[in-house]
Amino acid sequence: MQLIIFGAPGAGKGTMAQNIQKYKQFSHISTGDLFRRHIKEKTDLGKLASDYIEKGLLVPDEVTEKLIRHELDMIRSDFILDGFPRNIPQAEALDRILQDFDIKLTACVHLEIDPEIVIERLVNRMSCQDCGAPYNLVIKKPKVENVCDECGGKLTQRADDNEETIRHRFETYRAETEPLARYYENKGLLMTVNCNEGILTKLDQVWEDLAALED
Ligand code: AP5
Ligand code: MG
Repeated sequence: MQLIIFGAPGAGKGTMAQNIQKYKQFSHISTGDLFRRHIKEKTDLGKLASDYIEKGLLVPDEVTEKLIRHELDMIRSDFILDGFPRNIPQAEALDRILQDFDIKLTACVHLEIDPEIVIERLVNRMSCQDCGAPYNLVIKKPKVENVCDECGGKLTQRADDNEETIRHRFETYRAETEPLARYYENKGLLMTVNCNEGILTKLDQVWEDLAALED
């Protein structure tokens, strides 16, 4: 099964990609996570990407497309693309990559959410810098402040999870990414899920709908 998940910042793309693995194992390809890894390792790509990410802007298309071509060349089946494509040129590039590798998309899942809910969620998001375990200062606090319950590592906040950058990320989403809904609707691949209450309560239904597409 080959899936795209797209939605506003904080809609729950990462949460869905991790939790849907209880039904089937997928390779989770998150362009945001890939860029953050490069930033942490201080690679040339990381230096370039951080300038854009900290402003809430998209990293240039040719850089991102090359990254995805490389990832899909290694994987080719049962994957979730989280955060790619993010505009129409990237969607067209993905069509070319999939054609080159003879891969068919199963569906494009659009996670819809109210902007104010997202800001509240993201300013409270933290994760462990060692094991990556996610926390939320409202709904999932660590037992000891700033310390991971799982491994004792330090909890950190993403550099782009401050209110000003979140608003820019949202503007970028509205202008560049939201038009993908029409693009994939025209291809008969769009599945829309309202995520104001979170993706987890919807997961069984989403999986049932996706599984039906494969029959
Ligand atoms: P990326 O890492 O993809 O960030 P994003 O799109 O802004 O989305 P997030 O990862 O913040 O949110 P999510 O939808 O994964 O939600 P999550 O599950 O964590 O991209 C970052 C940057 O990289 C971009 O801005 C851009 O600069 C660059 N980039 C990436 N891809 C690119 C591309 N293709 N082209 C160019 N540039 C690119 O959930 C959010 C929070 O909500 C969590 O804390 C979670 O615990 C909490 N939560 C979930 N459900 C609930 C609930 N029911 N109640 C309360 N809290 C909840
Ligand atoms: Mg994410």
